Amino acid sequence: MTTLLAPPAPRARPLQRIPVAAPWLDAREDEFVREAMSTGAISGFFGEHISRFEREFADFCGCSHGVAVSNGTTALQVALAALDIGPGDEVLTSTLTNMATFFAVLHQGATPVPVDIEPDTFNLDPTQLARLRTPRTKAILVVHLFGHPVNMGPVLEFARAHNLRVIEDCAESHGAEFNGRRTGSLGDIGCFSFYANKIITTGEGGMCVTNNAALAAEMRSLKSLAFGEQNKFMHRAVGFNFRMTNLQAAIGCAQMEKIGAIIARKRQHAHFYAEHLADLDCLQLPGQAGYAHNVYWMYHVGLRGPLALRRGEILRRLAERGIETREGFIPFNLQEIFLAKGLTRRDACPVANEAAYRTFYLPSGPTLTEAQLAYVCDHLREVLTETAA
Ligand SMILES: Cc1ncc(COP(=O)(O)O)c(C=O)c1O
Repeated sequence: MTTLLAPPAPRARPLQRIPVAAPWLDAREDEFVREAMSTGAISGFFGEHISRFEREFADFCGCSHGVAVSNGTTALQVALAALDIGPGDEVLTSTLTNMATFFAVLHQGATPVPVDIEPDTFNLDPTQLARLRTPRTKAILVVHLFGHPVNMGPVLEFARAHNLRVIEDCAESHGAEFNGRRTGSLGDIGCFSFYANKIITTGEGGMCVTNNAALAAEMRSLKSLAFGEQNKFMHRAVGFNFRMTNLQAAIGCAQMEKIGAIIARKRQHAHFYAEHLADLDCLQLPGQAGYAHNVYWMYHVGLRGPLALRRGEILRRLAERGIETREGFIPFNLQEIFLAKGLTRRDACPVANEAAYRTFYLPSGPTLTEAQLAYVCDHLREVLTETAA
């Protein structure tokens, strides 16, 4: 049996259920927030935690610049804006993602083009790019889904050949690696989320990382109303207020102390699940491609065979046993709002469509105990057997 790291001391009364995700917060977050409070640095303009968090997180990603923002969606939007992507431009992006990825492209006035996925990793399939590129294609926005990096070799080669920008949506992939390089450092800009269920959290929050000093400066300006340099109130562009506050950054600094332990624990949890569920033919378990270091943001599984049509019933039965789960994402090309606007077609991405209604994720938070993991595995096995009977 896998040996797990000791769980952190529970912060509040233990829950009567096993949550799908729960952050790892302890006295260090309290300490750092109190420190920020004591200096009065509570906004997104002042306070040393913002620059410290930016520096530490960018370093962690293998990047020279970090620009903290208000969330993962605004990180994507400010990255697109800094790359001057807007009306008339097409952006190739994975159809299977949190729709925030698509919303950011649409808020910039650009046109998102959904790319179908690989059946094993659920990530963007690089072999589809050539078919979908047009003279208006300006960028590829990859999404490293559920902690598994996209196969970036062919993506970067295609982008180089056609002079396209590459943005990485790393909301779910802090610390994941493609051939030994961390996500966020592979394209022009990497965009992270620090929402409460992410690998590290600031409650709400995000960051753009890059090795390009000019892009970093542009994003730093755009996220903060693009104030003028000589005369502050003579603005140099139409900016946003997407600032992260120093209080949030203080939480981020505390989270940076434990990011390695959180990722180690997530990988141990994934190994535990794999060890205890591998014999269930009706489940497709997440894996790790040869090029990948998977951080298993969420343990995302697929139902196979006749049970693939019974997801709702299975999740209901798990909920009755106190096990919280979440359905997998619905692809862009099946979203009614976009179909109604004629932005996509239902049949645009057949592989994603096949996966859309048969996947879900199991409890995956870093504070799970071995007893909780064993409880989930035993009850999932029972529920699948009962449902199949
Ligand atoms: C893949 C992906 N992109 C973008 C986002 C948006 O991040 P946020 O919720 O911080 O805006 C999320 C998650 O929430 C996500 O999972």
